[in-house]
Formats: sequence, structure tokens, C-alpha cells
Amino acid sequence: MKNEIARRDFLKAAAAGAAGLAAASVFGGVSAFADDGAQEAKAFEGKKKFAGIGSVREVTEDIIYVGASDRRIQLFENVYPIPRGVAYNSYVLLDEKTVLFDTVDRSVTGQFFENLTAVLDGRDLDYLVVNHMEPDHSSAISEVLVRYPNATVVCTRAAALILNQFFACDISDRSILVVEGDTLNVGKHTLTFVMAPMVHWPEVMVTYDDVSGALFCADAFGSFGALNGNLFADEVDFEKDWLPDARRYFCNIVGKYGPQVQDVLAKAATVDIRILCPTHGPVWRENLGWILEKYNLWSSYTPEEKAVMVVYGSVYGGTESAANALAARISQQGIADVAVYDVSKTHVSELIAEAFRCSHIVLASITYNMGIFTPMKNFLLDLEAHNLQNRVFAFVENGSWSPASGKLMKEIVDRLANCSTVGETVTFFSSPSGADADALNTLADAVAASVKDDSAAPEAPEEAAGKKWVCKICGYVYEGDTLPDDYTCPICGAGPDQFEEA
Ligand code: FEO
Repeated sequence: MKNEIARRDFLKAAAAGAAGLAAASVFGGVSAFADDGAQEAKAFEGKKKFAGIGSVREVTEDIIYVGASDRRIQLFENVYPIPRGVAYNSYVLLDEKTVLFDTVDRSVTGQFFENLTAVLDGRDLDYLVVNHMEPDHSSAISEVLVRYPNATVVCTRAAALILNQFFACDISDRSILVVEGDTLNVGKHTLTFVMAPMVHWPEVMVTYDDVSGALFCADAFGSFGALNGNLFADEVDFEKDWLPDARRYFCNIVGKYGPQVQDVLAKAATVDIRILCPTHGPVWRENLGWILEKYNLWSSYTPEEKAVMVVYGSVYGGTESAANALAARISQQGIADVAVYDVSKTHVSELIAEAFRCSHIVLASITYNMGIFTPMKNFLLDLEAHNLQNRVFAFVENGSWSPASGKLMKEIVDRLANCSTVGETVTFFSSPSGADADALNTLADAVAASVKDDSAAPEAPEEAAGKKWVCKICGYVYEGDTLPDDYTCPICGAGPDQFEEA
């Protein structure tokens, strides 16, 4: 079926003057590329939209970075503060055919077209590969297609649908819709398309280049942060200057989809990837194992560090005082990595990232309107939405007449998979007294002992509890006890006969 789809779309594209494509098996399948040379590619003859010389860098001798950074933006996705800005990465492959991988956000189209024009240097654009259709990477597609009328879009069926939804951009007469394992030869290079649904949207795929070993990996391995001339992770102090933003990016943007990221990591392990070309942040060409291991930890919800995160919600200082005393005692017990956060002051995206980093989380909250302090409740619901698992929690509650926040916080934590509680919940009224200090010390000692005890922190389960069925058409993974008889793939529309149990 997938070959039929690919052939049909190839014929469509060929009829429109584009080169051809034939389908093949995942990574390393056989492909055939036909170019009868009947239609010579025309160079774009329009004027540059913006004056400028372009600011590009070589990833390899024939893969060129043409993306751009936005340093004016305040909130990514109108949610996440990004004081260091963000880069929207796009790449050109110069071979017998020219290929553009993804575009950019509308905020940086000026720099992007300067770069693209400079790199193509008068050549036409033959292919636009759309790995991810989210508008931060697709806002320039319509203009690319106008500027380069011979370009053929290569994307998933779902991407074509969403592109039309967002931009009223119908590419049905100039597209090749690919499925798992399809390949496209563009000269020396053969590209293989691998489905990566829900990393981070359902239409996502990644593209592997057999010559360079580059994986154009969409949002995977991305990071917040503008690029400052340095393109490669080995050109910066990534662990010191980038890791917090890379973690915050992953946990908040893709963190909910850990199983899908694990599926892509499993596919990636079968091929020789030498370069990671994400759509945000630096390019990886060295020490790939380091960032792959971070992704493995984050996406399996395994704590990155044996560390304690103390989060408090306080109005008049009593709960803050208790949190400070608790943290001091934990530190006195020899735990060096303790971090204390005011839940009202710290952006929730920072808290989510820290929760993914730390093995132990202490929650201290006032009781507010007979419930959990609102910012604390929002944080916990966000944790639940991001699917956090495998952590040890402890609780402190405060209430001036009827403390209830401890029990209510625990009710939310109990919904998180494979999480446990250490020590007894400490309850006090308004501000901690001497007797409360004893209880806090006892709880702190229990937390510290748990951190030191290698067997205390829950490990990620070896296998997911439920069964999985994989769509043979697009790679979408359905999880559950049984696959419903009337199930339809949410990405490609395939029925249950196209699913096989993983
Ligand atoms: Fe960077 Fe999911 O878009």
C-alpha cells in the first residue's frame, strides 16, 4: 500500500515537472530516482525580498545552514519565556538536485530568504522537505513555493493536510507524500524518511541522509536559545550554557510524548547517525551519545540526577520558612544538590524541567480556599499533563484553621505513574513552631536517606505496562490492552488491518 501511495504521488509530482521517487524499506531500502531531464530547472528570477548578504554556515561541504534566530521574542508558543531567544533551523542540501529541509517562523523570514538566496546562488529549488508542519517551521512555505515554482514538497499526508488548514496552501499538484521508509535520491545523496508521530505533532517525520549520516530530526534534540554565530554544540559550552534550556525545551514541548520519543530513539539506534540537525538550537556532530542519553533519560521519565527539588507556595512566609528549614536540614545530611523554588515566582516551565531533572520532589503548600494554593495546583496539574513518572515525593501542608493541601496534593501525585512517597506529611498551622521543626527535621532526614539509598528512587519500568500496535502505513503507535475493531489511525486514516502488534 505504501508503495502504491508513493508511486501515485511520484506520478503526480513528475507530471508537474518534478523529479521522481520510488518507495523502499526503512533505512537502507532500495530506491530508484528517475530524472529524464525533460524540464530544465529555472533559476528564481525575482528580486531579493530584503537586501543583505546572508549569514550561513556549512554543516558539511554540501549541507548548508540557512536558518535564523529571533532575539526579540518574549514567549515561545506564547507560553514559555525565552530570554535567550530561539533559533529556527533550516538546511539546504546542494546535490544534482537542491533540497530545503523545513523553513522558519514568520518572525525571521527576512534573514531566512537572504540565506536561502545566497546559498542557492541562482540555482532553482527542487525539493522542500517538510519534516514538521508546526508554523514555527512552516510559516515561510507559501512564499518558498511562490519564489520557487518548480519546487516539489516532500512530506507526510498529515503534514499536507495541516499545511492547508493553517495557510490555505494546497500542494496536491506539487507534492510527494511519503510513508515510513520511502527514499528519495537527489544525486549523490539518498534521503530516507522515517515517521516520528507525536514528536511533537502527529505529522512529524525525520529525514536521514546516507552520505553525511545527518538526521534532520525536526524538534527532537532541539533547544531554546538563539544561535550566536556558533552553530555546533561542540563550539559552545553546551552543558553549562545550553543544557538548562535544552532540558526545559524538551520537557515542556515534547515531554508528554516520551513513548513516541523512545520509539524514534530505537529506530535511530539502527543507523549510523553522525550529525543531528534539529529545528531549534545547535547542531550535533560530536559526542552524540551524550545528548542521546539525556533524551533517553528524559523520554523514559528517569531522573537525571539524584537531587531534591523543594517547591513551596506561601503567602505570609510560614510555608516558605518551613521549606527553607527543610532544605537546610537535607543539605546538612550531605545532599549537595538541593534546589528551592517559590512556586509563585518561578515560571512553571522551569519547575517542569527541574522535576524532570530531580529524583525527589518536596511539595510545601498553604491551604487556600480549602484547596491547594492555586500556583501549586497549576504546577501539579502541569506535571500530570507532562506525564512525569518515577519520582519520590514528600509533603508539607499549612492551614490556619483547616489544613487540607497535603492530602489534596497527594491525590494528584497518586495519579502519576510509578511515584512513591517518603516520610509523613508535616502539618502545621500558620507558621511552624518548635514541635513542627522536629517533624520537619524528621521528614528532611527521611528524604535525605531516600536520596542516598540507590534502591529508593523508583526506576523507569523496563517495559510499558500496556500493549502497542504500530501503524504499518505511518508508524503511529497505539497503546492499550486491545486495538478496537473500528480503530482508525489518527494520522493516516488506516484501519485496524494495517496495525501490527509491537
Ligand atoms: Fe518547533 Fe513543534 O515546533
